[in-house]
Amino acid sequence: MSTPWGCFMMGEMTIKRAEPDDEVSMAQMLDVVAREEKYIGLLVGPTPDEVRAYWEQPTSQNNIVLIAFDDDDQAIGWVNIDPGNLEIFRHVAGLGMGILPAHRGKGLGTRLMNVAMDAAWDLGIERIELRVYASNIRAIKLYEKVGFVLEGVERQARFLHGNWDDITNMAILNPDHMDK
Ligand SMILES: CC(C)(COP(=O)(O)OP(=O)(O)OC[C@H]1O[C@@H](n2cnc3c(N)ncnc32)[C@H](O)[C@@H]1OP(=O)(O)O)[C@@H](O)C(=O)NCCC(=O)NCCS
Repeated sequence: MSTPWGCFMMGEMTIKRAEPDDEVSMAQMLDVVAREEKYIGLLVGPTPDEVRAYWEQPTSQNNIVLIAFDDDDQAIGWVNIDPGNLEIFRHVAGLGMGILPAHRGKGLGTRLMNVAMDAAWDLGIERIELRVYASNIRAIKLYEKVGFVLEGVERQARFLHGNWDDITNMAILNPDHMDK
């Protein structure tokens, strides 16, 4: 995961590209968000070994993984942008992100997203797409705010504890190349 961008100091937060020894922090963050059972596809996070194995896969080598750290160097959020591996889909990347509960609603998601999108455009990505539960209003507001648009709805795509939720498909195109 070698990346041309480095480290961004942003007030109380530092955004860095993920290093191999960040697998424990990444696994912990995923586990916290997964166990909330509201936001991501997992209900339990992966182990650190599973995170490392995923990062080491040949198909993950072009992934952009950024982690936000607080003043105490604790990981508080992440964003991953994973480009496709087939030749005709290499310009398209899927996005996932999460911020630990105590740090939400303070602008961190917006900052993380803006850094990640700039990194993606720099690497030649032309389209970033994501799936978000329709009930996840805060995430949808963030995505709309940074320029993502609604492309579709997968009806009753999630079922948990007796409740359905739709999945919203959103995407953004590289604003410099939208007329291609
Ligand atoms: C979704 C998430 C990444 C957003 O990050 P965040 O740091 O909380 O968001 P921000 O503070 O940058 O706010 C972004 C926008 O969301 C909206 N927003 C923020 N808090 C909100 C709230 N409590 N309710 C509704 N909208 C809210 C606002 O429009 C805000 O922009 P504004 O402050 O300029 O008006 C974060 O809340 C999170 O990790 N949630 C749980 C995991 C998750 O949902 N991951 C995404 C799965 S697709």
